[in-house]
Amino acid sequence: MDKIADLKSSYLDKIALAEDEQSLEEVRLAALGKRGEVALMLRNLGGMTPSERLKMGPLLNSLKDDIRDAVKRQKDQLAKELLNSRLQSEWIDISRPCRPKTTGSIHPVSQVTDEVIAIFSDLGFSVAEGPQIESDYYNFDALNIPADHPARQEFDTFYLPVGNDSSTSAHVLRTHTSPVQIRYMEKEGVPCRIIAPGRVFRSDYDLTHTPMFHQVEGLAIDKDISMANLKWTLEEFCRVFFEVKTVELRFRSSHFPFTEPSAEVDIKCTWKGNQLKIGEGEDWMEILGSGMVHPKVLSGVGVDPSKYQGFAFGLGIDRIAMLKYGIPDLRSFFDSDLRWLEHYGFSPSDEPSIHKGISR
Ligand code: PHE
Repeated sequence: MDKIADLKSSYLDKIALAEDEQSLEEVRLAALGKRGEVALMLRNLGGMTPSERLKMGPLLNSLKDDIRDAVKRQKDQLAKELLNSRLQSEWIDISRPCRPKTTGSIHPVSQVTDEVIAIFSDLGFSVAEGPQIESDYYNFDALNIPADHPARQEFDTFYLPVGNDSSTSAHVLRTHTSPVQIRYMEKEGVPCRIIAPGRVFRSDYDLTHTPMFHQVEGLAIDKDISMANLKWTLEEFCRVFFEVKTVELRFRSSHFPFTEPSAEVDIKCTWKGNQLKIGEGEDWMEILGSGMVHPKVLSGVGVDPSKYQGFAFGLGIDRIAMLKYGIPDLRSFFDSDLRWLEHYGFSPSDEPSIHKGISR
């Protein structure tokens, strides 16, 4: 009997001292496992005399129960301690300020391109695209600018090296979006009504010129499209884009080899200090080149100029972005300065639309 009491207190001590689940399990196995001390003693009951068994049976069984209960209690205790220590070390201070949320912003050029697309889509123009590396043919010849034409000099063209292979023709970084007129009419034919926004390149660098900039080309060809349609379209565009009730445009006679007649278009405006105001004042600001597509350009793409005619224009996207949002230096557009982008950029949810407002 003493032996059983000793056994009990020895196991209960070991259980109480077990510091983790594994050592607790070792104690349990030593007592109650298949070859455990108490288990073996229980198994020996069978060999005892009935009177011994009557005495030892309840003692051993209650020893077994006590050990099992103690193990369970200790197990619960260890789990609780573990949880408490995790609660201590893993707590979160929900009163702390959160990390600053940095969202990107939309570049003014992308925003203004989307505005231009929204306006012209509403007027029934679809969007076309062409390559930035363009052949000499599409950038010049097809637009009625032959190799010796002085207009080639005006473009400050970036020429790409011609390969040794004699079958490769000269290529350039396109100097304007006008080659998309040719590519589109060759592929889709006429009548057509498209705009073609994209990057163009010229070797030039100052406050209002960068070697890469953006244009949007416009082209509308049908049987009876006139210069009056061009004027209305551009006026309507400017009115909606600059968000003013009325605009006054001035068509100034000009020359482009691919249009006849040709006109540069100025918009009436005024400078108030550094701020430009559209729709009032006495100053004129040039915003685009335009004209009626030259018959030679049309016949070059297989369109009969005695049946079809239409207008084309080329508008500087960066230029009108500077005007609309009061950005003084074009070069800063392409410096990738995050502070500049945060200041002049647009929220990604500010999607321009005719119905919700072109800019908000
Ligand atoms: N491509 C001309 C330029 O870049 C602009 C233009 C386009 C003029 C279409 C007339 C018609 O200067």
